[in-house]
Amino acid sequence: MTEAICWFNGEMMPASAARVSVLDHGLLYGDGVFEGIRFYNGRALRLSRHIDRLFRSAAAIRLAAPYDAGALDMAVHDTISAYGQDRGYLRLVVTRGVGKLGLDPSACQRPNVFIIADQLAMMSETVRHAGARTIIAATRRLGADGLDPRIKSLNYLNHILARMEAGNAGADEAILLNAVGHVAEGTADNIFIVRHGKLLTPPCCDGALEGITREIIFELAQELGIDCTETTLGPYDLYTADECFLTGTGAELVPVREVDGRPLGSCPGRIFFMLQTAFQKLIERETMARRLSALRK
Ligand SMILES: Cc1ncc(COP(=O)(O)O)c(C=O)c1O
Repeated sequence: MTEAICWFNGEMMPASAARVSVLDHGLLYGDGVFEGIRFYNGRALRLSRHIDRLFRSAAAIRLAAPYDAGALDMAVHDTISAYGQDRGYLRLVVTRGVGKLGLDPSACQRPNVFIIADQLAMMSETVRHAGARTIIAATRRLGADGLDPRIKSLNYLNHILARMEAGNAGADEAILLNAVGHVAEGTADNIFIVRHGKLLTPPCCDGALEGITREIIFELAQELGIDCTETTLGPYDLYTADECFLTGTGAELVPVREVDGRPLGSCPGRIFFMLQTAFQKLIERETMARRLSALRK
């Protein structure tokens, strides 16, 4: 198995050798932001969208990354090359950096930036084929009045609690509702349902991250002529859906076969299958094309 690698503030090293201080506010308070990025054919998928979102998350928490987008783009490419595999997962993290004990970040002088390259299988192949069994978690997604769901911060505790609920219930994934009981998203993925041939997904104001895979689904649905709408959904909509699936960089596309013990209409369903096929083609199209143009340079 290839050893995980880490680009750490400009230096490449085995991930096992990379260290952050116990005084880093990223560790002490979850004060920082991150991106999960997949690469295929040795090229990161939708890298510019990930870097844009990272800078938006950082701006929202007043964190100035010590590298610009071009430098991070290059760092990502160097990390993929150093890792030496065609496919894998990257975790790009910007922490507030080392400061004093206490929440005040003003003494944190320099954010730490690191990129880990490794493999990540969020769901087993069996679940990916047969569909995920899900539960609706008792733990709720924080609303924008608490922490705006569009900020991809290092605070994942309520998602972790929801994931533990899924594990305790013998399910594969948990779905979080927001404070008023509307469907927000999965623990590390967005959610879509199909009703009468149409795709429906919760809007970000209901607690969904502005997922990059979600955005790709919007594009593919348009190409395939499938109607796709952002709308508020409740548990009833999930229980009675014709199809349901999860999307995320880590998860990729995963069909859902059950929500709270209710089997869904079909899994994997026809619309899921169309989108899955189109998604695989998009990955090949985008990553192969970029690889070839890089080779020509
Ligand atoms: C809470 C949450 N929602 C949704 C997603 C999916 O977003 P993306 O498709 O950009 O990976 C993620 C991905 O990490 C996530 O952490």
